Amino acid sequence: MASSADLPSETGMAGGKALVFDSGVGGLTVVEALRKLSPGIHVDYAADTGFFPYGDKSDAALRAHLPRIADQLVEYLKPDVFVIACNTASTLALPEVRERLSIPVVGTVPAIKPAAHLSQTGRIGLLATPGTVRRDYTSALIEDFAGDVDVLLHGSLELVSLAEAVARGEAPNLQHFASAQQPLFDQDTDDQMDVVVLACTHFPLVKAQLAASAPRKVRYVDSGEAIARQTGRILSASGVAGASEVKPIAVVTSNLEDRPELQKTFKRFGFPKVELLESVADGAIAAPASLRPYR
Ligand code: DGL
Repeated sequence: MASSADLPSETGMAGGKALVFDSGVGGLTVVEALRKLSPGIHVDYAADTGFFPYGDKSDAALRAHLPRIADQLVEYLKPDVFVIACNTASTLALPEVRERLSIPVVGTVPAIKPAAHLSQTGRIGLLATPGTVRRDYTSALIEDFAGDVDVLLHGSLELVSLAEAVARGEAPNLQHFASAQQPLFDQDTDDQMDVVVLACTHFPLVKAQLAASAPRKVRYVDSGEAIARQTGRILSASGVAGASEVKPIAVVTSNLEDRPELQKTFKRFGFPKVELLESVADGAIAAPASLRPYR
């Protein structure tokens, strides 16, 4: 992957406003990459906590839900670009979200192509949610970009919960990380796998714990920097003005009273203000009376 020194200078100069979206705190890994590469971009964040986790939802439920929630969030926060910082959502409903929104949409897809290039042994692993693992989109990526590479897959919702726990400040138990990723290593009977794709944006949050608890040394790769680069490119090409003076906002879709720790987590990631946008029940969205334009 390119280092920031290799990046076109316009990416670093980009301004405007990005809204980074995920089911929970996973997209914060993309926020960090974006801030690093393009400090001039104003970044707001939306965590669809009312519908979390996405990884075990049916395709039909997610397809119905995602374009609607994306539309609501864009209406509310008025970004210049909408970044789906979630593999589970992007690999299923990126076309539907693009169709619904009138602004550019950046999706997140598993870093299979760079991983296949990096592998010295010809065997890579992919850790994702169960949803991403079973997607046709993921199979097509493997066929197109890792055709000559052996790809082992493992879907784990437990790792998503472990990452959420670490993000809210809980002490990690390495034993849990070890057992959550063991089924991937179990498939690698002759120890050939040398690169593992972190194909869920939650997982880079716990890369250190994954590395420390892995049965063997492997290289973990993710798409954070690539998404940040693409977002910067889009914003510089569209020539939108510099960042607003307004403080970044994080929006959640479930009641904060149930999740007091979220407030602290977002603060640590540079979002001093957290707002409840709407309540989501059984896939139905009810916008609150307080819904108002952001600017
Ligand atoms: N962060 C999401 C992803 O990249 C998934 C987490 C979830 O299951 O909601 O796939």
